[in-house]
Amino acid sequence: MKCYIRPVMKNIIVTGGAGFIGSHTVVELIGAGYRPVIVDDFSNTDERILEGLSEILKAEPTIYKIDCGNENLMREVFQREKPEAVIHFAAFKAVGESIDNPLKYYHNNIATLVTLLRLMQEFKVHDIVFSSSCTIYGQPEQLPVTEDSPEQEAASPYGYSKQVCERILRDTVKSWPQLKCALLRYFNPIGAHPSGQIGELPYGVPNNLVPYITQTAAGLREKLTIFGNDYDTSDGTCVRDFIHVVDLAKAHVKSLSWLNRQNDGVCEAFNLGQGKGNSVLEVVKTFTKVNNIALNYEIGPRRNGDVEQVWADVSKARKELDWSTALSLETALEDAWRWEQHLKKEV
Ligand code: WQD
Repeated sequence: MKCYIRPVMKNIIVTGGAGFIGSHTVVELIGAGYRPVIVDDFSNTDERILEGLSEILKAEPTIYKIDCGNENLMREVFQREKPEAVIHFAAFKAVGESIDNPLKYYHNNIATLVTLLRLMQEFKVHDIVFSSSCTIYGQPEQLPVTEDSPEQEAASPYGYSKQVCERILRDTVKSWPQLKCALLRYFNPIGAHPSGQIGELPYGVPNNLVPYITQTAAGLREKLTIFGNDYDTSDGTCVRDFIHVVDLAKAHVKSLSWLNRQNDGVCEAFNLGQGKGNSVLEVVKTFTKVNNIALNYEIGPRRNGDVEQVWADVSKARKELDWSTALSLETALEDAWRWEQHLKKEV
């Protein structure tokens, strides 16, 4: 009689796991044989995501609907789930809102990380993947931007909270050498799961470009305003590095393997983007072309805090994480539109 030894699944705490990037990462973690444990207070996402996740996974992921900054409640999660690692997504991320409400951002984005690290130390959980951002670079002097490019003064409390969190992790590794950190600097995540079951669910009026485009195309917004076409770029509009959220999610799984291979006391940053720039106008034109749909837009004034152009040098992630993007801008915009149409059907 053959006996199958079932590999013991590694439990991974995923804070913010019901969010845009978090939920896509949960799908990839399960596909790679991990057992994700979602911790999300739903302050910045919607329970519809859980329905979509169950539809994709054909199972209910483990979820704790709590604030991951609540030390006592999180201690119970660590006691019960005995995680091997933590992927920390939970944070507020609207640049404009952070300028209006800095204390909300500093408390949630920074204090929560401190609480989490204290619990990791208490339970001897050594591996953390941290959701960082290209906003720490500001407007780089040289492009593409590498991980060694100097940090610029953050243009917003959101960007500054990410700089502070990276510093907290670097300082904590020095004082607790068993800690191992992967700092993932996201460029512009866009798109949705190809199933159309999960995607970006911004509350209220979207800050970000692609959800605003899809809501305009769906008739939920009257028109898109392109914030400025007088920049020193090919067509005058800003340039960004747009990366498919599924490619980004896969990088988190690769980061766990990378952490597993490292000796103690490591804290490394990785740029996660396509490694090329597209302008806002190029994104608009590509969206209308691949989805064969008209889009009502106008050119408006620049938006405060916008950098002119930024895109990533991704050679370090390619080499050390054995990761690279596989999905194009066109695919991301098709997947984003499919998700918007799924949402419209739900109403
Ligand atoms: C992109 C471009 C706008 C809306 C985001 C996240 C940040 C970080 C980096 C992860 C800009 C233009 C937008 C609109 C427009 N990601 N735009 N009309 O500002 O690059 O930052 O990615 O950490 O968290 O916020 O992204 O999508 O807001 O803007 O013209 O209605 O699109 O001016 O040039 P941004 P965005």
